[in-house]
Amino acid sequence: MSAVPEQVFAGAPVVPVHVGIIMDGNGRWATARGLPRAMGHRAGAEAARRAIEGAARAGVGWLTLFAFSSENWRRPEPEVRELTGLLGHYLRHEVSQLVRDGVRLRVIGDRGRFGPDTVEAIHQAEARTAAGTRLNLNVALSYGGRAEIAAAARAIAQAVAAGRVSPAEVDEALLEQHLATSGIPDPDLVIRTSGEQRLSNFLLWQSAYAELVFLDVLWPDFTGAHLVTAIEEFSRRERRYGARLG
Ligand code: IPE
Ligand code: IPE
Ligand code: MG
Repeated sequence: MSAVPEQVFAGAPVVPVHVGIIMDGNGRWATARGLPRAMGHRAGAEAARRAIEGAARAGVGWLTLFAFSSENWRRPEPEVRELTGLLGHYLRHEVSQLVRDGVRLRVIGDRGRFGPDTVEAIHQAEARTAAGTRLNLNVALSYGGRAEIAAAARAIAQAVAAGRVSPAEVDEALLEQHLATSGIPDPDLVIRTSGEQRLSNFLLWQSAYAELVFLDVLWPDFTGAHLVTAIEEFSRRERRYGARLG
């Protein structure tokens, strides 16, 4: 817990510029109700809508939602089909609402692993929401932090091999430029639902100094109030970045 007294933040909470959310617990939510896991994923899509609306209302600039990890391809084929189908459906049917709400959507991750219809739906959703300025929404699909860092290292190695970059020029800033999130501020706050307390390969590089908040709510039950709770918890944290304060 922070050593800073709570009453310091009795006024408006400090709003994080960038919030990342590991949306976990759909399967357990469904199982607890005697429903197939697919129903949990559908209910999870509704919770994602509430998170987007809540982030926009709170004045968060960037929201990154972890929807499908590079490791989630290892799940049984029917569940993968359900999830990828749901993502395609969401991208196609949610775009008008995102445009109305001023949300700009970008997808990070290895989109080449999806079928051509989904790749096209991603492209269309990004193009149609490109003018949104109220909230920047990243959806991490087939995303893994290690794969992202490896891809950046590969691109830099190619530039070095071609003589365009010298090894001495390889630094944190150059690596950052080759990440999917290049130019986007690092997440200040990473939230994970479902009670699990791990990153599961989410934004590894970018979360170096993120504040982590773990919520005991299964993702389909997530509401705007949970986001407010997490932002309040964030407000009470003292961020040091390795420096000595005072
Ligand atoms: C999160 O819910 C959605 C994805 C990871 C795609 P889970 O499907 O992981 O649900 P649990 O963790 O099994 O309850
Ligand atoms: C992390 O959840 C990935 C997403 C929320 C998309 P998982 O359910 O896949 O993570 P593990 O397997 O519990 O670490
Ligand atoms: Mg899970």
